[in-house]
Amino acid sequence: MNTKLLEIENLSVHFYTPEGIVRAVDGITFDVAAGETLGLVGESGCGKSVTSLSILGLIASPPGKIKSGHIMFENQDLLDLDSEELRRIRGRDIAIIFQEPMTSLNPVLTIGRQVAEPLIIHKGLSKSEAYKEAKIWLEHVKIPAARMRLNDYPHQLSGGMRQRAMIAMAMVCGPKLLIADEPTTALDVTIQAQILALMIGLKEELGMSLLLITHDLGVIAQMASRVLVMYAGELVEEASTLDLFDRPFHPYTQGLLKSIPRLATSSKDRKQRLNEISGTVPLLTEVMPGCKFAQRCPHVFDQCREHRPELFPIGDGQRARCWLKNYPEQRKPDA
Ligand SMILES: Nc1ncnc2c1ncn2[C@@H]1O[C@H](COP(=O)(O)OP(=O)(O)O)[C@@H](O)[C@H]1O
Ligand SMILES: [Mg+2]
Repeated sequence: MNTKLLEIENLSVHFYTPEGIVRAVDGITFDVAAGETLGLVGESGCGKSVTSLSILGLIASPPGKIKSGHIMFENQDLLDLDSEELRRIRGRDIAIIFQEPMTSLNPVLTIGRQVAEPLIIHKGLSKSEAYKEAKIWLEHVKIPAARMRLNDYPHQLSGGMRQRAMIAMAMVCGPKLLIADEPTTALDVTIQAQILALMIGLKEELGMSLLLITHDLGVIAQMASRVLVMYAGELVEEASTLDLFDRPFHPYTQGLLKSIPRLATSSKDRKQRLNEISGTVPLLTEVMPGCKFAQRCPHVFDQCREHRPELFPIGDGQRARCWLKNYPEQRKPDA
């Protein structure tokens, strides 16, 4: 069983701004298999959210424009659909949850109405059936006193409870694909663990695919079976989660892994271990001939500044956009 549910091919998304053309997503290609949890990881500003919004047809235009590519979902190109057809797919077949529930929850509508509405719109349930179902879903995502919560407004719930309500709203119609964009970033660690456990449970139970977007490799390790690493609008590495942690190839991936804070007893220890990648993401308005990571890469050599590497196969489903594949002698052992 390895049927592809979503296939993204050479997707490029630009924003036309006073500062120039922002190449937020620059020719990415990947797929999500049925039932799989795929992680998409990268620093803030590298194009993760623009990728997820593109899949749902939610890029505001202007200033945004999908410059090229195909987004095949169950063999139809979502980029060919009109807004009405996309609306039908959104919520029913593909759902999204965001970091901040208040961006998807409407502050002036009750939780019950917001969880029930997709069932009325997409599944044709009557109002009373939909509310009954909504209550079951609030229980399912472990919101206590679900019946009472149906009448609450979003501001009456805690952050964690709002996140649960948003998950219920995303899940009611049984989507085939759930896109979770930094679903737990705004939550404290205990709540984060509970929400992740909830998502794992629902995913197993419903057999849907999950595209999990995060800057947190710890979350990836817990949840995803395969990982894509994004940098400055491009995919720079793809690997199974095991391989990515075990033998990361790209210097950017290696830097990300080194920057995971570990438990340290003394502050001296902590300083040694918190190893940030130096420098910042290049301006996405600039067009550079070489590798986009060259300015920050500890292994950089001439080839990297002049020519853009492709995603070279490293073996066993692993790929990396790095010239070290062809010039392994350039890798500095102590970097
Ligand atoms: N509406 C917009 N107008 C201009 N630039 C945008 C817009 N939305 C996103 N961008 C730019 O696209 C890039 C990628 O953003 P985003 O996908 O949100 O990053 P991430 O989710 O990885 O943190 C950033 O440089 C961001 O400033
Ligand atoms: Mg984002």
